[in-house]
Amino acid sequence: MKRLLKGGRVVDPANGRDGVFDVLIDGDRIVRVGRDLPVEADVMVVEVPSGLVVCPGLIDMHVHLREPGQEHKETIATGTAAAVAGGFTAVACMPNTHPVNDNAGVTEYILKKAAEANLARVYPIGAVSRGQDGEQLADIAELRQAGCVALSDDGRPVATALLMRRALEYAGMFKMPVIEHCEDPSLKAGGVAHEGYHASTLGLHGIPGEAESIMALRDISLAELTGGCVHVAHMSARQTLDAVRYGKTRGVRVTCEVTPHHVVLTDEMLVLPIPYDTNVKMNPPLRASEDRDAMLAGLADGSVDVIATDHAPHHYDEKHVEFDRAPFGITGLETAVSLCLDRLVHAGVISLARLIELLSVNPAKILGVAGGSLAAGAPADVTILAPDLAVTVSVARMRSKAKNTPFDGWQLRGGVAATIVGGRVVYEGVGSLLQFLPPAL
Ligand code: DOR
Repeated sequence: MKRLLKGGRVVDPANGRDGVFDVLIDGDRIVRVGRDLPVEADVMVVEVPSGLVVCPGLIDMHVHLREPGQEHKETIATGTAAAVAGGFTAVACMPNTHPVNDNAGVTEYILKKAAEANLARVYPIGAVSRGQDGEQLADIAELRQAGCVALSDDGRPVATALLMRRALEYAGMFKMPVIEHCEDPSLKAGGVAHEGYHASTLGLHGIPGEAESIMALRDISLAELTGGCVHVAHMSARQTLDAVRYGKTRGVRVTCEVTPHHVVLTDEMLVLPIPYDTNVKMNPPLRASEDRDAMLAGLADGSVDVIATDHAPHHYDEKHVEFDRAPFGITGLETAVSLCLDRLVHAGVISLARLIELLSVNPAKILGVAGGSLAAGAPADVTILAPDLAVTVSVARMRSKAKNTPFDGWQLRGGVAATIVGGRVVYEGVGSLLQFLPPAL
C-alpha cells in the first residue's frame, strides 16, 4: 500500500531538509521525499495539516521495559504502547531485567515479545557483566549475534576499571558502544538525592555531582586507551559535562545523553510542591539549577548528543513508601516530546531540527541502527509532531503500566499527532487533525 503524506513541514536534519515537502511511503519503506509529488492512482493521500511536523521516527535509546521478570511494573507490550504514544518508533531496552539480559536466551525472548507486541521496534542492550555483578564479562559475541546493539550494566556502573577496559575492547570489535551508568559507589554511599541545601533540609543523604563525573573521567580515559566508544547515560552534573567536553576535544569516542527531567526539573522538587515525593526520586538525582543550566547549554552548543528518557516504571506500591526506601526512577516515554517541545523548543533553547537530531538522528548513529533519516529507501519510521497542541499530562490516560511521574497535570505546548512504524500507523494522537484510513495492521 502506498501513502503520500502531503504538505507537512518536513524536518529531516540528516538530509538537510526543513520545509514543506511530500513523503511517499510504499509498504514499509520511504520511496521519495520532494515538493508537490504527483498523486498516482494507487496512492492513499494523507493531507498533513499545516502546523504539523513530519520527522524521522524518534528513538529512545534508554528505557526499562522490565520484562522478563518484573511484569508488575511494565511489560514489553505496555512499554512499547507507551513508546508509540510518546512518538517513539524505536526503543533500546536496558538489561536489568530478571533474569538479566546477559545471554542469547533472554535477548531472543525480548525480541520475540517485541515482535508479538508489534508496535515500536525494540533494540535490546546486553549486560557488560554476567548477572550485572561486575565480575566476569558477559559473552559479548553471543549477545551481539542474538541482536543486542549495545552493552551496559545500567542501574549500576561497570564495577572496575579493568572490566570496563575489557568491555570497551570487546565491544569495539563488534562495533557496539558501552553505555555507562556513571557513579562512584563509594561517593554515592547510600545517597538518595542531590547533595545540597534541599536534601539537607529534609535530612536526606546526598549524592554529589562528583560521584558521576569521577566515573565519567575514568571511562573517558579508558575509551582513549582502547579506542572504544563510551556513551554516558543520563548525565546530570555539570562536572560530567566538562569531562565529556574534555574527552571530545581529545578526540575520544565519547557521547552522552540527558533526560527531559534533568533539563526541566531541579532538586527544588524535593520540597515543592510535595515534600518527599518519591516521584522525584531517580538515579542520578535531580540536581541544582547550575547543573540544569549546564545541561541546557550543552544541548544548545552541541556537546550533548542525545535526549533519552530513562523510562523507569515502578509499581504504585513500590513507590508509595518512605523516600529512602522507594526505588529510583520515573516514567518518561509519554511525556518526553511535550516537555522537550515546550521547555526546549518553544522556550528558545534549541531549534526543532536540533531536537530531531537529539531524539532521532544521533541515537540511530550511536546504536548503529536504521532510522534517523527520511531518505529514499529508509524504513518508513515516521513521527508526526503537533508542536502547538495544548497538552495536559494525564497519568490516567497513559499506556504505560506505571504511573510514577512528577508531571501529572502539567500543561504543556506540543505533542504527538501520529507514529508510523515500518509504514503502519501505530498511534494517532489527534485523530481530528490527521485523517488516516484504517492502518494496514
Ligand atoms: O532512576 C533510575 N532507575 N536509574 C537507573 O539507573 C535505573 C533505573 C531503574 O532501573 O529503575
